[in-house]
Amino acid sequence: MAPAPSFRGHQWTYNSVRGSCLLLLLVMSNLLLCQGKPFLCCSPNVFDIPRESLTDLFLNAMNLSYSIYNHSRIMFNEFEEKYAKGELYNINATISCHTDSLNTPKEREEAEETDIEDLSKWILIFLYSWSRPLNLLVTDLQSIKEVSETILSSAKENVKKVEELQEFMERHFCQMIIPAMRKMLKAHVYWSELPSLMSSDEDVRQSAFYNLFQCLHRDFLIMDLYNIFLACLHIEC
Ligand SMILES: *[C@@H]1O[C@H](CO)[C@@H](O)[C@H](O)[C@H]1NC(C)=O
Ligand SMILES: *[C@@H]1O[C@H](CO)[C@@H](O)[C@H](O)[C@H]1NC(C)=O
Ligand SMILES: *[C@@H]1O[C@H](CO)[C@@H](O)[C@H](O)[C@H]1NC(C)=O
Repeated sequence: MAPAPSFRGHQWTYNSVRGSCLLLLLVMSNLLLCQGKPFLCCSPNVFDIPRESLTDLFLNAMNLSYSIYNHSRIMFNEFEEKYAKGELYNINATISCHTDSLNTPKEREEAEETDIEDLSKWILIFLYSWSRPLNLLVTDLQSIKEVSETILSSAKENVKKVEELQEFMERHFCQMIIPAMRKMLKAHVYWSELPSLMSSDEDVRQSAFYNLFQCLHRDFLIMDLYNIFLACLHIEC
């Protein structure tokens, strides 16, 4: 691993990413760094933690990540059953996601060869990329017809679990926070589907929701795979 930058919390971090931080404020609403929440960096190096508790930590992270994926699958299935399978709505099968430009390793073999730094960076990127859409699902979008009780409760679970996993990742892989943000800026990862999701045109709206749930499902599946590989690089799997 590259040497961890010797930063001492918020001030250093802010100064060093001053430029991108301002931009990121526009891009992401729920970012620890730019919002003045206590910054957890840096906990003891992950390799200094006694083996048993390290195992617990990574098992817990794997549980979180699996649960996040599971809830995204529930949301997708629910929406697909209601709007895509029946005659109700003819969904256009093409999907495009705001994370497409990242070119994350998607094949198992490719991901297996990815090192700890890149795995943790990709995981952080997925968490940051989906934090805002998930938060909007449980706030601004929650009263929209397509957001059923089932979808809403899974989205609420995911908001909580994404936050928890993000805290874990930021605590233990804090040196990857800035590279993750840089990568997002460079790849122009910017989610801008809110107007479509709130459209009064039913076709536009449902197509946007379908796309959202499909992308969420796809990305969290990939993220779950990364979490498994990341855990297995630290503990015996
Ligand atoms: C992970 O989940 C399994 C069951 O889903 C549970 O038995 C186990 O205690 C959990 N592990 C941690 C560390 O949370
Ligand atoms: C995953 O989702 C299914 C429902 O699709 C549920 O029965 C199961 O308990 C969930 N598992 C976890 C670990 O969340
Ligand atoms: C589906 O999407 C593609 C690409 O966005 C577009 O070219 C095509 O016309 C769409 N098909 C329908 C039936 O809307």
